Amino acid sequence: MTQSVYPFGLAPPSGRRRRIAVIAGDGIGPEVVAQALRAVEPLGIALDIQHFPWSADHYLKTQETLPKGALSELRDHFDAIFFGALGDPRVPDGVVAKDVLLGLRFGLDLYINLRPVQLLDEKLCPIKGKQRRDVNFWVLRENTEGPYVQMGGSFKRDTPDEVAISEDLNTRRGVERIIRAAYTLANVPHASSHKTPRVCMVDKANALPHAHGLWQRTFRQVAAEYPETTSSHLFVDVAAMEFVRTPERFDVVVTSNLFGDILTDLGAAICGGLGVAASGNIHPGRCSLFEPVHGSAPDIAGKGLANPLAAFLTLAMLYDHLGESQAGDRLRRAVEQVVLAGLVTRDLGGQLSTSECGDAVLRALTGATRN
Ligand code: NAD
Ligand code: IPM
Ligand code: MN
Repeated sequence: MTQSVYPFGLAPPSGRRRRIAVIAGDGIGPEVVAQALRAVEPLGIALDIQHFPWSADHYLKTQETLPKGALSELRDHFDAIFFGALGDPRVPDGVVAKDVLLGLRFGLDLYINLRPVQLLDEKLCPIKGKQRRDVNFWVLRENTEGPYVQMGGSFKRDTPDEVAISEDLNTRRGVERIIRAAYTLANVPHASSHKTPRVCMVDKANALPHAHGLWQRTFRQVAAEYPETTSSHLFVDVAAMEFVRTPERFDVVVTSNLFGDILTDLGAAICGGLGVAASGNIHPGRCSLFEPVHGSAPDIAGKGLANPLAAFLTLAMLYDHLGESQAGDRLRRAVEQVVLAGLVTRDLGGQLSTSECGDAVLRALTGATRN
């Protein structure tokens, strides 16, 4: 899908330049963010970019994760956040990712985690016989609830009698708003690849009747308001199988926070891997955060091996959010061109380094500008 169908963007700017916060983070985060930001100038939309240092290095030097006041500053003075990745083996318990990434998701109430599963070239698909049109859907992952809220605790820690509890929090309000967002997206013209738009809700109500019973009841109520949309339901185990067996059946998949996390790495895999998977953490109409699905990849950090295409595609989603979807479309087309030409990093079977792949995107972009 190289044409934007994004219904969650900001209101038009009031004369001032858009302000973008960049959190490059750890590991390959800064490497891929640096490449993607090279597209800003050729895309021709003046942005005010401010870099924030929150990362493992910064934490180890200062003990600071997400400083006081950061949330209100970002919410009130920025239009979007471009984020690389956080995660570093030197930081115990992922405290920086917890405070900064989850802190921003919760603190800015970014309740939609929008993750496209869109195949750019059939040769990237590991499933036999699937073409681009067969792998072309969206996952909306609930992004502010579930076990991620970290309610719970442990008792008799480090003894043979240890007890550990992570609560799975689900609210009617939280479940309903993500399901509504799924129907909103499915009903944008061209968002669905089928004649009738399809929304599939994924849960595990057979094993989790309380929490996911709420998902089922809420889904049925919202679905009834959309008789023109084909609404269906799958349990998450079957959904995982169907992602691989018949990805062509999906348009919009809506699911819980944890299931969405897992299913979208699988979604990435059927498109060629984490190196091409983009995402947005969105509150419609407000400052939202855009990040590749992948993490900091400590195994390849600093070696010039990271695929920057997920970061370019993520930046394209950020432009959609700013209401600049023509720029987003141009960037997506440039990425598509380099993939089709095989100008890619090793994870996609190519030979290029991170910056050489970035060069290829920039060439495709500036070539496209002259057309
Ligand atoms: P990961 O996504 O960092 O890496 C998984 C595998 O995919 C690795 O083999 C890696 O080399 C490869 N990979 C990932 N991105 C790639 C790219 N752009 N190009 C080429 N190969 C790529 O997941 P992980 O290893 O489970 O996690 C590493 C750290 O990142 C952990 O601390 C984790 O918590 C964190 N993490 C952060 C985010 C985030 O900030 N949004 C997301 C996921 C994981
Ligand atoms: C993601 C990541 C995060 C998540 C981690 C780093 C907490 O895996 O963005 O997919 O589970 O949401
Ligand atoms: Mn994940």
